[in-house]
Amino acid sequence: MTDRYAVIGNPISHSQSPFIHTEFARACQLDIQYEKLFAELDKFEQVVAEFVAAGGKGMNVTLPFKGNAYRMATELTARARAAEAVNTLTFRDGKVYGDNTDGVGLVRDIVENLDFPIAGQRVLILGAGGAVRGVLAPILEQKPAALTIANRTLIKAEALAHQFAAWGEINATGYEGLEGKTFDLVINATSTSLSNELPPVPYGVFTARTLAYDMVYSKGLTPFLKRAQSENAGMLADGLGMLVEQAAESFSIWHGVQPETRKVTNMLRDVLA
Ligand code: ATR
Repeated sequence: MTDRYAVIGNPISHSQSPFIHTEFARACQLDIQYEKLFAELDKFEQVVAEFVAAGGKGMNVTLPFKGNAYRMATELTARARAAEAVNTLTFRDGKVYGDNTDGVGLVRDIVENLDFPIAGQRVLILGAGGAVRGVLAPILEQKPAALTIANRTLIKAEALAHQFAAWGEINATGYEGLEGKTFDLVINATSTSLSNELPPVPYGVFTARTLAYDMVYSKGLTPFLKRAQSENAGMLADGLGMLVEQAAESFSIWHGVQPETRKVTNMLRDVLA
């Protein structure tokens, strides 16, 4: 019988995960079924339980359920524990294994696809919500020279910096604290691009060798990437590569093979264009 996988979210209709996993499976000659599951906000656990009862083997979890999945997992990886969020569930032997592949997906896109080593670099992350928490541990594992978290609400950035202090050199600031500073890698992990807004970064943080990375992907440049471009940042990237890399890591957790990602990213880019 064909193994069943799914992505669960609310909303879910625009998810690219079925396309990505189906393409990976085709390339790896695996026979899987991968579907989209919508859950009402208070029905996550019920929809998951029904999927498992019907023989479901694994599930990707997207907004707003990553915290629910974290609480539902009976076994957690260290990176999921640090993120306090789970985007990959595996159902086996009556256990629910929870992992988080977002951070490793981001790091792989930056370090391998964009060929931009994080080690030894001065890294700035904008935002202090769930998206940031999900990627801090894998970024700090790369041993940047320093990691700064800037957020509109300073106390949230400070809380994250405190919580992740054991993982590496990390500090928190408001946006005004970025005046006069430059960074090698600037990651926009705020939700501003979703509403076509710009985070209030002061002018001057980008240099000719800065990689500006927006975790959101879009057809054209996001406001953040437009701003980085106007300041002649060395390289611009959106989050499409991260999306495909986090899927690849989930795929390898479930199927034991690391799929080739570049072709699928290019196919998605063509669909977006
Ligand atoms: P997510 O799970 O995507 O991280 P979130 O937890 O709601 O979503 O966090 C959204 C992030 O975007 C926060 O860091 C938020 O800043 P605040 O903590 O100060 O609210 C940030 N954000 C959203 N809109 C913003 C804006 N217009 N300017 C600056 N930061 C913004």
